[in-house]
Amino acid sequence: MAIQVAIDGPAGAGKSTVARSVARQLQVAYVDTGAIYRSLTWEALRRGVSLDSERTLGDLAVELKIEFIPNDEQQKVWVRGEDLTEAIRMPVISANVAKVAAYPLVRERLLAIQRTLAEGAGGVVMDGRDIGTRIMPHADVKVFLTASAGVRAKRRYDELVEQGHALELPQVLEELEDRDRTDQSRQVAPLRPAADAVVLDTSPLSVEEVCAMVVALCEIRSRNKEGR
Ligand code: CDP
Repeated sequence: MAIQVAIDGPAGAGKSTVARSVARQLQVAYVDTGAIYRSLTWEALRRGVSLDSERTLGDLAVELKIEFIPNDEQQKVWVRGEDLTEAIRMPVISANVAKVAAYPLVRERLLAIQRTLAEGAGGVVMDGRDIGTRIMPHADVKVFLTASAGVRAKRRYDELVEQGHALELPQVLEELEDRDRTDQSRQVAPLRPAADAVVLDTSPLSVEEVCAMVVALCEIRSRNKEGR
């Protein structure tokens, strides 16, 4: 199905789980754009680059060679020949990524790679914060996933504990709310639903239920396209 699907929403709304599963069901590519901002943050911290320097981070963004490698369980993220899939999910990256992603120069420099990935033959499901509003404004299906802050924090907490991180739930909630505030208030491409997005509160829904709804939206859209 050559369809473009944009999935946006705040942290912990289940975007990546849903996007990955929907892409698998539709047999199209999956692109996690958060991984691009996370990889840049990881690279900056590794090189000791100041997170206050928009220009240096912008230059680093141009050099960043990120590859998405499909994998059964999880998509792998490689940067310059190194597998960063797990490293970029570390709490220290989550705590700093929104600051890096708020710089207009960084966003501008990362636009081309995302648009290229969006145009990949055969359709794509992309998740992030500005996919429906900026990266794929003409996407066939736009979904904005949300959930109450408490539910999102609990989901993220469970994930982190399973990965072996020792954290407290209130700390996870605070970090998540901080990041949402930064993402919603930035000047360029702030986190918000596109005017034509379907907004779905996933608080009472299982992953399977959300996926089934998104797949149904894609099927309806694709039937309408074919019938045109
Ligand atoms: O998975 P989670 O919701 O925690 O976040 P993510 O999708 O990995 O994105 C991490 C951060 O990258 C977000 O909080 C945003 O600051 C930034 N981001 C963005 O600005 N635009 C995107 N399209 C994707 C992510």
